[in-house]
Amino acid sequence: MSFIEFDKVYRRYQTGEVSIPAVDGVSFQIEKGEFCLIVGTSGAGKSTVLNILGGMDICDDGKVRVAGRPINDLSKAELVDYRRYDVGFIFQFYNLVPNLTALENVELATQMCKKPIKAEKILAKVGLRDRMDNFPSQLSGGEQQRVSIARALAKNPKILLCDEPTGALDYRTSKQILSLLHRTCRETGTTVVVITHNTALAAMADRIITMRSGKIVQIAVNDHPIPVERLEW
Ligand SMILES: Nc1ncnc2c1ncn2[C@@H]1O[C@H](COP(=O)(O)OP(=O)(O)OP(=O)(O)O)[C@@H](O)[C@H]1O
Ligand SMILES: [Mg+2]
Repeated sequence: MSFIEFDKVYRRYQTGEVSIPAVDGVSFQIEKGEFCLIVGTSGAGKSTVLNILGGMDICDDGKVRVAGRPINDLSKAELVDYRRYDVGFIFQFYNLVPNLTALENVELATQMCKKPIKAEKILAKVGLRDRMDNFPSQLSGGEQQRVSIARALAKNPKILLCDEPTGALDYRTSKQILSLLHRTCRETGTTVVVITHNTALAAMADRIITMRSGKIVQIAVNDHPIPVERLEW
């Protein structure tokens, strides 16, 4: 049994008469401690897959198992615990609390988990040592994105789900953040799943899942991933 298993998973969105199959019979496995990429064109269903895996959305059909637990069958309370204790999520659009500072945003996440990393320490790691007391509106897009990355890492989660974590970052900062995610994966055994449009990152991943129109078109396993520092794009 693999750590993460999607078995013929469907998610359809109903708008009026039209039903959109955002996820259309998706099956894949991810092993514990892997660094996995999900790539594919816009609208392919990548965020929907990640939301289902993170317990923020529920599939209409199929099975989703994490460490053998069928998370599509959990009660509301169990799902809250799963999201709280097991999952760290980096959102495509940050989702920071606007009236809390960077430090408070990270502390809010660590208050409700079991073995958090100190908020100050993790903010320093993402290069925001001097911006901790700023509110999101006083930070650039890339800085807000790094607060959201720090918030997910500080929870010290079993699974780290990242929806285009470097979308708003410049080349150098992207590399630093990807290196931090990769090191976290290797040093702590955290299973990391990253959505990206950057196919050059395939060389640093253990597994690459390619989606198109709600379906999986390819799953590649890379036996010799290399550090992001050695990649150019
Ligand atoms: N709440 C919703 N209601 C209706 N349709 C939706 C909803 N959320 C997503 N969709 C549709 O489902 C499909 C998959 O969306 P999803 O956000 O998973 O794509 P994506 O691969 O993450 O794209 P992108 O790279 O642009 O972020 C798209 O066609 C989208 O329009
Ligand atoms: Mg998306």
